[in-house]
Amino acid sequence: MLVGNVSGKTILDLACGDGNFSRKFKKKGAKEVLGIDLSEEMIKLAKNKTLQEKLDIKYLVGDVIKLGEIKEFDIVISAFLLHYSKTKEELLQMCKNIYMNLKKGGKFVTLNQSPTNPIKDVKEFGAKVEGLEPLKEGDELTVRLYDNMKEVCSFKTYHWSKNTYETCLREAGFKDIKWSSLSILKEGIKKYPKYNWKKYIHKPYILIIEALK
Ligand SMILES: C[S@@+](CC[C@H](N)C(=O)[O-])C[C@H]1O[C@@H](n2cnc3c(N)ncnc32)[C@H](O)[C@@H]1O
Repeated sequence: MLVGNVSGKTILDLACGDGNFSRKFKKKGAKEVLGIDLSEEMIKLAKNKTLQEKLDIKYLVGDVIKLGEIKEFDIVISAFLLHYSKTKEELLQMCKNIYMNLKKGGKFVTLNQSPTNPIKDVKEFGAKVEGLEPLKEGDELTVRLYDNMKEVCSFKTYHWSKNTYETCLREAGFKDIKWSSLSILKEGIKKYPKYNWKKYIHKPYILIIEALK
C-alpha cells in the first residue's frame, strides 16, 4: 500500500468523499480514522456505508482551507484535494492545515491531477478533464465524471505548477517532497483488460505527492 503499513496508526483522510479510502485503512488495521469532507452529502454517504460495514470511523463536514488543528495524526492522506484550491493562498492554507494535523515525522500522502499533464479523456476510467492549453497558473479545469460512459456530474479544479505545489508545501513546513506515478498492478490489468492502461503509463494524468513533517 502506498502509505505503508497502517496497522495501529492514526489516520486523517481529508476530502474523504464517501469514505472509500477511510474504510480501506480501517480494514487494514488503522487504530483511528477520521474522514473530513466539504460536502454534507458525501459525509452522509460515508457514514451510511461505514455503518453497513460495521466499522468504527468518525466523519466530519469541514473545509480543509479553514480546518485548524484537530490533533496530530500519524498519517494524513487526501485523494484529490489540493487541486481544488482556487488561489495560491488557498493552496498554502490547505498545506498549513495538513501540516498542523501531523505529528513530527508523520507523512502526508496525496493523489493529485498532474501539474504537467492534467488534461485527459479517459471516460472508460470514469473521467474527462477539459481545459484550454497552454495552461497557466490558476487556470480553471472542468472535470466530468462518467458511469458506464454516461456523464453523472461535473466540477471545477485549478491548474498549479509543480513548483507552486512544492513552494506551498515547503512554506507550510514540509520536507522530503516526492512525486511519483501510480503503479498499475497486473491484477488490475487482468481485471479490466479493455482499459487503455498505456494512456496512463505513457502520460500519467494523476500523480502521487508524498511529504514529511
Ligand atoms: C474527487 S472527490 C475524492 C473523494 C475521495 N477522496 C476518493 O478518492 O474517493 C473530491 C472530494 O473533495 C472534496 N473537497 C473539495 N474541496 C474541499 C475542501 N476545501 N475541503 C474538504 N473537502 C473538499 C469534495 O467535496 C469531494 O468529495
